[in-house]
Amino acid sequence: MRNLSMLTPIVFIVCIFFLLYQITLVASSTPPRDVPDDAITLDCDNANADKSKDMYGRDWTGDFQSKFFPKEENNLKSYTSKAPLERMVTRAPYSTARISYSQFTYVFPVTVGPKFVRLHFNSVIYPGFEGSEAFFTVIAGSFTLLRYFTAFVHDDFSQEKTFFKEFCINVGKDKKLNLTFIPYSTTFHAFINGIEIVSMPADLYYKPERKTDEGIPNLSGNPFYINNDMALEMVYRLNVGGYFIGQTDDTGLFREWSTDDNYFKGASLMRQKPSLILDYAKIPNFSAPDEDDVYRYARTMGSNRTKNRLSNLTWGLPVDMGFYYLVRLHFCEIDPNMNLVGQRRFIIYIDYLFAEMDADDYWTDKIGRPVYKDYVVMIQKKGVEDNSHILLIDLHPRTDSHYEDAILNCLEVFKLSNTDGNFTLI
Ligand SMILES: *[C@@H]1O[C@H](CO)[C@@H](O)[C@H](O)[C@H]1NC(C)=O
Ligand SMILES: *[C@@H]1O[C@H](CO)[C@@H](O)[C@H](O)[C@H]1NC(C)=O
Ligand SMILES: *[C@@H]1O[C@H](CO)[C@@H](O)[C@H](O)[C@H]1NC(C)=O
Ligand SMILES: *[C@@H]1O[C@H](CO)[C@@H](O)[C@H](O)[C@H]1NC(C)=O
Ligand SMILES: *[C@@H]1O[C@H](CO)[C@@H](O)[C@H](O)[C@H]1NC(C)=O
Ligand SMILES: *[C@@H]1O[C@H](CO)[C@@H](O)[C@H](O)[C@H]1NC(C)=O
Repeated sequence: MRNLSMLTPIVFIVCIFFLLYQITLVASSTPPRDVPDDAITLDCDNANADKSKDMYGRDWTGDFQSKFFPKEENNLKSYTSKAPLERMVTRAPYSTARISYSQFTYVFPVTVGPKFVRLHFNSVIYPGFEGSEAFFTVIAGSFTLLRYFTAFVHDDFSQEKTFFKEFCINVGKDKKLNLTFIPYSTTFHAFINGIEIVSMPADLYYKPERKTDEGIPNLSGNPFYINNDMALEMVYRLNVGGYFIGQTDDTGLFREWSTDDNYFKGASLMRQKPSLILDYAKIPNFSAPDEDDVYRYARTMGSNRTKNRLSNLTWGLPVDMGFYYLVRLHFCEIDPNMNLVGQRRFIIYIDYLFAEMDADDYWTDKIGRPVYKDYVVMIQKKGVEDNSHILLIDLHPRTDSHYEDAILNCLEVFKLSNTDGNFTLI
């Protein structure tokens, strides 16, 4: 391998070209909002210069020949490893990994603004690393995205050992997005299979403090702002009452939408209206996938008022304590009988606190017109030992509404970085 001092001018020139390319791209055409400026899919340690395809047919570029090739602390000591052959075919980016006993950094020259950063892992034992464990920290600029991370998959019954962690990071002017992987000590290793960076619309999840903006309700106090100096970690994105939606079926932002089956408590009536034409008068059309029925599927309580009065629609979401969480609830009326404002009114509780005393269809004011509502809640750290908490979302019908019922179509929860830029307390 050539030494780094020779590589630096080349990297610099590549960056300049990349930046010029970005600038001409922006200047020559105004792309639709849901075509991101940056959409990088890097297949870590795939020596193949050719692109490889993932299970959805999306292209991933090998990092070996790329401009993002990692700069190691001790002169390129990272290794490449192929995932061991299992019964299932492992596709990009999970078939190869970059593994190291010492730290390494990827440098991404990206456009200004908020980005999705997705770290893809295949949690298997890699040939050549049988004797050591993965135990590492991942840093992005001033944020510690993962600390003392093992990539261990807790669900032993699942064959699935591949997963990704999604973060939102705002990249400032003249800043690069650097991702550094640091093993806990020389007896442990760090690894990564794939890195995805996708630009997002500025106002999708960030809510910076502006004079005109009243902020997001902080359920235990003042309004809250999600300023550009914060990072977010996606913890739940659930298509309530609906089905799994893969990354390539999103609105071009490559988000994944899971089912809520594992988190919904109790009974509900699943509603669906696949033929409904949606009207995006209140929210942008990239808020959630349209063709894939996030808003056309919902859970409601059903028509038995007596039973509804005695119960809640409840989701229980395990979260870490000691952090603020952004909770986004998506609503869309899909029942053709609900054509008058105020027919389905309900109370929303988030973590036992009143989030909304009178949630109402007037938010959507028309059948098929989706809307979402954001709330911020602090999950206080209680005991020294205990670090896990079940965040409850409860919807309860109001007895003064025409149908004593409640509805939810989609639920997103993000952990917010603390003032140190950390997502863990240790
Ligand atoms: C990112 O990496 C580049 C090149 O290694 C370096 O010049 C820059 O200072 C780094 N930026 C941050 C914020 O760490
Ligand atoms: C949110 O409310 C809690 C409880 O009143 C308060 O301690 C905290 O400072 C508030 N956060 C913000 C950012 O206003
Ligand atoms: C979203 O709306 C924009 C115009 O506001 C339009 O150009 C774009 O095609 C729409 N996207 C989808 C997926 O419907
Ligand atoms: C409605 O729910 C109540 C309480 O669970 C139950 O006693 C009653 O039989 C139900 N009514 C109908 C029509 O199912
Ligand atoms: C609904 O949830 C709220 C908040 O968690 C709780 O106080 C209330 O007792 C619940 N109601 C029923 C009927 O379970
Ligand atoms: C937050 O992370 C920084 C380094 O990124 C570390 O120095 C600091 O101790 C951390 N704070 C907490 C509370 O963990």
